[in-house]
Amino acid sequence: MNLKKRILVTSALPYANGPLHIGHLAGAYLSADIYVRFQRMMEKDVVYVCGSDEHGAAITIRAQKDGISPQEVVDKYHQEFQEAFDRIGISFDIYHRTSAPIHHQTSQDFFRTLNDKGEFIQEESEQYYDEKAEQFLADRYIKGICPKCGYEEAYGDQCENCGSSLSPTELIDPISTLSNEKPILKKTSHWYLQLDKYESWLRAWIETGELDGSVLHDPTDWKNHVVGQCKSWLDGGLQKRSMTRDLDWGVDVPQEIEGSKGKKLYVWMDAPIGYISATKQWALDNGKDWEPYWKDNDTALIHFIGKDNIVFHCLIFPAILKAHGEYILPINVPANQFVNLEGRKISTSKNWAVWVNEYLDDLPGREDELRYYMIKNMPETKDSEFTWKGYQEAVNNELVNNLANFVNRVVVLTNKYYEGVVPEFDADLMIEVPGDEMPGFHDTEMLTLHDMCQDCAEYIRKFDFRSALKVVMEVSSRGNQILQFNEPWKQIKVDEDLVKVVMNIGLQYVKALSVLTYPFMPFTSARISELLNEDHIDERDGFVGMLNLLCEDEPLIQSGHTIGSASHLFDRISDETIEEQVNKLKKSEKKEGVKNENHAIPVKETISFDDFMKLDIRTATIKHAEKVKKADKLLKLIVDLGFEERTVVSGIAEFYDPQELEGKEVSMIVNLAPRKIKGIESNGMILMAENQKGVLSFVSPKEKWENGSVIR
Ligand code: 2FM
Ligand code: ZN
Repeated sequence: MNLKKRILVTSALPYANGPLHIGHLAGAYLSADIYVRFQRMMEKDVVYVCGSDEHGAAITIRAQKDGISPQEVVDKYHQEFQEAFDRIGISFDIYHRTSAPIHHQTSQDFFRTLNDKGEFIQEESEQYYDEKAEQFLADRYIKGICPKCGYEEAYGDQCENCGSSLSPTELIDPISTLSNEKPILKKTSHWYLQLDKYESWLRAWIETGELDGSVLHDPTDWKNHVVGQCKSWLDGGLQKRSMTRDLDWGVDVPQEIEGSKGKKLYVWMDAPIGYISATKQWALDNGKDWEPYWKDNDTALIHFIGKDNIVFHCLIFPAILKAHGEYILPINVPANQFVNLEGRKISTSKNWAVWVNEYLDDLPGREDELRYYMIKNMPETKDSEFTWKGYQEAVNNELVNNLANFVNRVVVLTNKYYEGVVPEFDADLMIEVPGDEMPGFHDTEMLTLHDMCQDCAEYIRKFDFRSALKVVMEVSSRGNQILQFNEPWKQIKVDEDLVKVVMNIGLQYVKALSVLTYPFMPFTSARISELLNEDHIDERDGFVGMLNLLCEDEPLIQSGHTIGSASHLFDRISDETIEEQVNKLKKSEKKEGVKNENHAIPVKETISFDDFMKLDIRTATIKHAEKVKKADKLLKLIVDLGFEERTVVSGIAEFYDPQELEGKEVSMIVNLAPRKIKGIESNGMILMAENQKGVLSFVSPKEKWENGSVIR
């Protein structure tokens, strides 16, 4: 449990190169927002900072595509992000931007300090240069053939086909995407951070939480996949990494440093420092001191990010902070995995996304429906799936049938029986309660409510937001069951005293829900408060106050208080609405020119029968599968051919978990020349059927078949 005096929460700074979509929300924003809203309710000193990441190739490539300047790109999207975050209720204390002068100064100061302390080495190397465009090329501006898989559109930093990390000089037949010309290699000098020098303390800190003799965090609090990814980087050996680039757009290397002309900071050097400059700006705006938030050991620094940012937040940025010397390190980096949309990877360039601003234009007032469904499916430990059907079911079956129904029944009946006044009750009367043979008293039911609230809090503290949200819905279900068991609508004619106890408990539950929903569904929390004719959570003492009252067996809402009149919290989502959204998604995808579903992939040129006979294809069974380190798309497979076992590297990690593959029967080309992929010799190729959407499936014998059988 975090007992620190203050908490500083950051969410990854999104590149200001396209609008906010649900993938962003699921990655770094909703989780952080839940956490900070909860900590505010716990009366903690918590500050939540974020802002637009306005540098790097992501921005200049967008500018080039849209025919506008990088400044125009970042101005446009910074504003769009700000608006979308605000509309969906992400409650930053500041949403800053890295083009701000205070950020340029802060990141230059960092660079200066590290340079003065001798943390960099300056080295000359040959890098690709576009003679026509007269500039050095960022990795993303170079395309060529992937040396690992032969894919023709690989980028200078990564092949999106096989997932390999590349360096531009590894590409076969590189071309510049600026001019479509072949780039030349030209000498240039850069400043490198010697990550290898920090490897041993980074490993100890990741594995044990220990640094310079103190234990800073408990590594078992960190998510397995985060620690796993860090360890695999460390096992692979950290390399020196250049912290500067030859670019026109970005933060200048401080000009007094020799050789700085034309050099900018690497975007991953400046962006995380954006958290610090945002905190500085927040402090200036609010008359506070920023330094304790970054320099005092009594601060818990927590970075919320998506899994693609793990190495930067767990290894590179901590190395920069420690090399500087005055800064604390994060106590946790609860990274989320990715959310897919209707079975496919979310993609801005392919327009395969649900855009937050568009969603709110199409479905006004449904902020919390989206938040609810995204939190319910948050990719906390593995990738998850957004489907419009799933969204509809969650809204109709859970929010409407459970939460809205319960709150509405309590409010309607209170108005009907008591003219909206919370009834006094007889504490010795017993009512039916769920989960127990025995009827219960009002005060024991309040203790049950207390325990559920504690559970919810505990899950939030552990970054297990899905489980926390489940508890909220269980509170509502229990409230509903209490009504159902005691049937006040029938009992009102028979036993008025009993109905008073039941309705009083119902009202306590509704009040608890106004607090419990606040971190997850703040708009709903406010609406429930209005139904109860109470102040919003922002204006009262939230969770701490509620738990104290429950512990002391005090009511959350007093007898005699008059509540408001009823109105529905959520409306059902119709089939037509869902259909419209699915159609919109599909239509907008086609516009962007993704493989069109109606067009078959062209048939390759004719080959001779002899050519075909050269292929030796066999049946085989996968005996073991594991992920290949530092390659999101690759699995290493051990396959049994009957006559021998082989190792094969296969690009199927996006579609299959290693555990589900053991025992799987497959077909395999066995006479393909061996190839080294990520340092592993691959001896053969597993055959896969790829559909129009790029999804892969095994080609397997229909029934159990002997390994090693010839396929022809
Ligand atoms: O991956 C991204 O979208 C980056 N813009 C995240 C930066 S996070 C932080 F370091 F600023
Ligand atoms: Zn490749």
